[in-house]
Amino acid sequence: MILVNGVVCKDAKLVKADDFLFRGLHVMGNTSNDVGSNVTAVTVAEGINPPHTHPRATEVLTVIEGSLLVGFVTSNPDNRLFTKMLEKGDVFVFPQGLIHFQKNLGYGHALAIAGLSNQNPGVITIANVVFGSNPDIAEDILAKAFQIDINVVRQIQSKF
Ligand SMILES: *[C@@H]1O[C@H](CO)[C@@H](O)[C@H](O)[C@H]1NC(C)=O
Ligand SMILES: *[C@@H]1O[C@H](CO)[C@@H](O)[C@H](O)[C@H]1NC(C)=O
Repeated sequence: MILVNGVVCKDAKLVKADDFLFRGLHVMGNTSNDVGSNVTAVTVAEGINPPHTHPRATEVLTVIEGSLLVGFVTSNPDNRLFTKMLEKGDVFVFPQGLIHFQKNLGYGHALAIAGLSNQNPGVITIANVVFGSNPDIAEDILAKAFQIDINVVRQIQSKF
C-alpha cells in the first residue's frame, strides 16, 4: 500500500475517470448553520470554514460568483492583517499555515473555488481548537491568554 501525504494511493490500474470528477460545484451549500458558511470540498477527504489554518498547504481561492471579504494574519511578532474584498474572477492566495477567513458580506450568494497545494492540507479551526478541545483546556489558562473573565471562557466553551 502506497501512502501519499497520509492518504492511500489507489492502484493505477483501478483508477477511473470518476476518481477525477466532481459534479455540482455550482450548487449553493446550505449556510443555515452556526457559522453561516458552508464549504463544498473537492478533495480526497473533506474540509470546513471561519478563521482557520491549513498547516500543510497554501490555498488559492477564486471567486466565481458574488463577492467575499477575505483575509489572513501573518505570524508573530507582526500579526499583520492582509484583507481584500474579492469580486467575481478575483483570485487570492492564503500562504501556508496562516490563519485566514472568508466572509460573504451578504449582498447575495457567493461562490468560490479553493485549491490547496497538498492533498492532505489539514484544517485547524481556531475557535473549535481553542474552546472546543476534548477535554477542555483549563479555563484559567484561556482566561489569562485571552485576558477575559473565566465566565466568558465558560460561555464560549459551552458553544462547542
Ligand atoms: C452544506 O450544504 C449542504 C447542501 O445543502 C448540506 O447537505 C450540508 O449539511 C451543509 N453543511 C453544513 C455544515 O451546514
Ligand atoms: C438549511 O438548513 C437548515 C438547518 O438545518 C434547514 O432548516 C433548512 O431547511 C435547510 N434549507 C434547505 C434549502 O435545505
